[in-house]
Amino acid sequence: MRTVFAVFGDPVGHSLSPAMHNAAFEALDMECTYYAFRVSREELKAALEGAKAMGFGGVNLTVPLKQEALKIVDADPLAAAIGAVNTVDFRNGMKGYNTDGIGAKLSLEEEGVDIRGSEVLIAGAGGAARAIAFQLAKDGASVTIANRTAEKAIELAADVSAVGNARGCGFENLGSLIRESDVLVNCTVLGMKPDIGGTVATAKDMHSDLTVFDIVYNPLETRLLREAKLAGAKTVTGVMMLVYQGAEAFRIWTGVRPPADVMKRAVLEGLR
Ligand code: ATR
Repeated sequence: MRTVFAVFGDPVGHSLSPAMHNAAFEALDMECTYYAFRVSREELKAALEGAKAMGFGGVNLTVPLKQEALKIVDADPLAAAIGAVNTVDFRNGMKGYNTDGIGAKLSLEEEGVDIRGSEVLIAGAGGAARAIAFQLAKDGASVTIANRTAEKAIELAADVSAVGNARGCGFENLGSLIRESDVLVNCTVLGMKPDIGGTVATAKDMHSDLTVFDIVYNPLETRLLREAKLAGAKTVTGVMMLVYQGAEAFRIWTGVRPPADVMKRAVLEGLR
């Protein structure tokens, strides 16, 4: 009998997770299939209990369920601190994890970034910034969070300070902050298709020892990443974060590290 995995969310029709996980299951010759199910906040508890009762191998959660899940599952300390669950494992009760930050960490490590001791500047203070800031600070980076609304960055940095080194500020000195950083992560919606233009930074503020990571993956190459290339900086696309957050969920459920290149190919195919 095949084991079923799924992503729950609303909307969920355009999720790339089924293609990505099914490609990995196929490559590893595993008897598993991954589906997308539309589930509302109100239905989440029943959906999770139903999935567990039916022997699902695990589920991912996306908008708008990640925070709601905290009330239902047994969240691990990092997911509880982040305040969002994106991965549920049914093997021991209903355990919740957040793999978004690990997705970012693995994406950066693949580019040769040594997180420990690095100066990381995160632009944005929403849900994605929160997951990434907690993970990278916990792993020993010195994290600066800059946000259009400075108060939100300052609040987030205060929370993150519980696990590591973090400070928050507004966008006023972004240029000089970038010049002092090893890594710039864009967690704002700037550059996102179809209608959000702009970029948090341009080449003049960047340097060739910088790694620029844009979590936006549509378009694949954002203006920010083009500016980074002009400055001779290394670039990491949001596709890698998507792939590695999925790869980490896959590892939690199955104990197997899936082939990231196969998952990446499936995502790129889905984006075409
Ligand atoms: P996500 O869950 O993907 O992180 P979010 O929680 O909606 O998304 O966060 C969006 C981020 O993009 C926020 O940091 C937001 O800044 P504010 O807190 O000041 O709203 C940022 N953002 C949205 N529009 C922006 C813009 N035009 N310029 C700069 N930052 C913007």
